[in-house]
Amino acid sequence: MSESRPPAADTSLAALTAMARSVQSRAWAPYSQFRVGAVLVATNGAVFGGCNVENASYPAGICAERSALAYAVASGAREFSRVIIVSDADVPAPPCGICRQALVEFAPALEVVSVAANGTVAQWSLADLLPFPFTPSSLAHA
Ligand code: THU
Repeated sequence: MSESRPPAADTSLAALTAMARSVQSRAWAPYSQFRVGAVLVATNGAVFGGCNVENASYPAGICAERSALAYAVASGAREFSRVIIVSDADVPAPPCGICRQALVEFAPALEVVSVAANGTVAQWSLADLLPFPFTPSSLAHA
């Protein structure tokens, strides 16, 4: 007798990149014209996509990575293994400083993968990108 389970998400880099490209196509970036997609992979295999959403009041905009993080946390996920970022830049774009800080709260060991327009892939650990993070434990030292 076979057990009935939902199909596992395809977490190959090709599948995650395709999903990130799909989310990127929904970015709202009329001011920068720099469209970004991000897919955050939870440790249980669930995946959450986000895109940048800009605003006429420029600081009100949000990056793709934090938009994916908000969607994931609102969906109940809190542990993540990987984020895949895609843009149309000709070199892989690393996450901005604010996104590094937002991500480290939930995933200090996150693997960060970024894919450029021509498919060039770069990979970093979040710990390398943000070597001295402000973490919840930092608050305990006040
Ligand atoms: N952006 C992201 O979505 N992620 C990053 O890590 C860097 C920048 C967005 C913000 C803004 O909408 C546009 O790219 C240009 O900065």
